[in-house]
Amino acid sequence: MDGKKLAGEKAAEYVKNGMVVGLGTGSTVYWTIMKLGELVRGGLQIQGVPTSRRTEELATELGIPLLDLAEVDEIDLTIDGADEADADLNLIKGGGGALLREKLVASASRRLLIVADESKWVPALGKFPLPVEVVPFGWELTRRQIGKLDCDPILRMADEAPYVTDNGNYILDCHFGVIQGAERLSAALNQLPGVVENGLFVKMAERIVLGFTDGSVEERLP
Ligand code: A5P
Repeated sequence: MDGKKLAGEKAAEYVKNGMVVGLGTGSTVYWTIMKLGELVRGGLQIQGVPTSRRTEELATELGIPLLDLAEVDEIDLTIDGADEADADLNLIKGGGGALLREKLVASASRRLLIVADESKWVPALGKFPLPVEVVPFGWELTRRQIGKLDCDPILRMADEAPYVTDNGNYILDCHFGVIQGAERLSAALNQLPGVVENGLFVKMAERIVLGFTDGSVEERLP
């Protein structure tokens, strides 16, 4: 069975009437958003805060009322995917390129719920290259600076040109190997001029809903 669909749909059960809900990005939370669309058509009243243009388009098509992050003081609950999650529920995100808006929305949320299939559950973060969003100006220099933190950053491409985020920036995918001090690494990256944000989400998630190919769903807390 499709673990992403199982987890994504299950997470919709956490959404209650009247909530402001952060809507993540990716192929797992897609199922949550589809389910929420169905529930909204059935009378559920929520307002969504999208984390990407893709999610904004999907939610709009489904008739989910949306708010801009600027209009919101606090989001009740955000549901989002992850590329990797460890037992502390520290995460790598940004495989889909939406990490900056995802982190902004998650930071404004009282609760962050992660949805994923079993393949995302890892003993240690770092097999998946860490996405780092950087400004295009002088990105080669930023890449060299990040490289000094012991990795070989690779510019993400879309066809022949650099991939450009919703915020007009580039992404460097950074293979650090096993990441032990996620908080330290995140701080070291974010203090480099040219780095806008990185895909490490440390101590932010309160729960993960994991879908398994055998059809089961498990919820795990840090
Ligand atoms: C988007 O930028 C990412 O952070 C996604 O949330 C993450 O890549 C998970 O995506 P999938 O659910 O498509 O695997």
